[in-house]
Amino acid sequence: MSYTLDTVINRKNTHSLKYDCAAERGKPEDILPFWVADMDFKTAQPVLDALEKSVRHGIFGYTESGIPYVRALRSWYMSYFGWEIKPEWLVKTPGVVFAICTAIRALTHPGDAVLIQPPVYYPFSESIRANHRKLVTSPLILKNEHYEMDWEDLEKKISENDVKMCILCSPHNPVGRVWTEKELDRFSSICRKYSVRVIADEIHGDFTYPGHRQTVFASLRHGEEDFTITCTAPSKTFNLAGLQDSNIWIPNEILRRAFQEEMVRAGYSQLNTMAVVAGEAAYSAGRPWLENVKNYLKENLDFTRKYLTEHIPGIKLVEPDGTYLIWLDFRSFGLTDEDLEKELVYKANLWMDMGILFGPEGSGFVRMNIACPRQTLGQGLEQMRKVFGR
Ligand SMILES: Cc1ncc(COP(=O)(O)O)c(C=O)c1O
Repeated sequence: MSYTLDTVINRKNTHSLKYDCAAERGKPEDILPFWVADMDFKTAQPVLDALEKSVRHGIFGYTESGIPYVRALRSWYMSYFGWEIKPEWLVKTPGVVFAICTAIRALTHPGDAVLIQPPVYYPFSESIRANHRKLVTSPLILKNEHYEMDWEDLEKKISENDVKMCILCSPHNPVGRVWTEKELDRFSSICRKYSVRVIADEIHGDFTYPGHRQTVFASLRHGEEDFTITCTAPSKTFNLAGLQDSNIWIPNEILRRAFQEEMVRAGYSQLNTMAVVAGEAAYSAGRPWLENVKNYLKENLDFTRKYLTEHIPGIKLVEPDGTYLIWLDFRSFGLTDEDLEKELVYKANLWMDMGILFGPEGSGFVRMNIACPRQTLGQGLEQMRKVFGR
């Protein structure tokens, strides 16, 4: 089935965080949003069919995921990542951030050090701080508009701070790196050397551009399954974030039990019926839709690159390997982050995530979500050109 992703769908008055909450969050009512990471595309038809069937059935009682759901996931991870998962590894949570917080509480003690690699998805630092753990950072290095891990700094920070846990963002939001197997091997060997547990947040793992391949960190062959909590979800992949459903894989039984006990303490057990229905349909029959979306995103990326080169050469695109988020370098304009935000919001009428949110290393950068119809993207770039163009 081919999908028309060019159609602009009005998301106003749909309880949308992206489109309905601007005024509430201090932004102009009619601002064009490219910030939060959901897509402006309707989800896959098999998902809509399954949800409609469930609505017609009309009973939304307590729900379990069941065998067909896990079977669909098993086949997905085997086919596209070569990772053989076991059904008993699965723990369902209402979100990946929920899972990260749960893992931090379950597997470390208050005051323990937890490491992240900024600029990185800001709820990582919030989760560490909110749970009274010590935040340790090993910033990525930017070389020629390309980000890499800082290996010497990573090892030094882990050993000096007695780090107990690392949160690996793979692919990396916001800089768009899809870590190579070689890089993940090196990351793993440092974690093994210092007995560090890893939360591998692979929520963006289904979005890679041609020439890049996502390696599931736990599928490396040096015992990673034993010390890794792998966070995955249909939310980004199939645009189902509002249904609140994640799949957390914990092969090590002791870690899994500790995680589950923490879930009991949080009082979370049964699942959202619609999330299970949608997830099962998505992983069983959603692949053609996802392939269409990936092709469309590649075209959006090419369109953006060309537009910036031709009309706004002052903004440099950090070429992403994956994800539908792009990291734009505005440093050539010499603005403070505060002034840059003012220009974007009040002159360009654009709502994007300021880089500084992702850590001080993000100063002068802006994250833009390109998962929208080309018309919307074109409009956003045009508004940007009027303020920052030549
Ligand atoms: C790296 C990363 N992890 C987690 C999330 C959010 O996950 P959830 O909504 O399931 O908590 C996002 C959303 O943008 C993300 O980019």
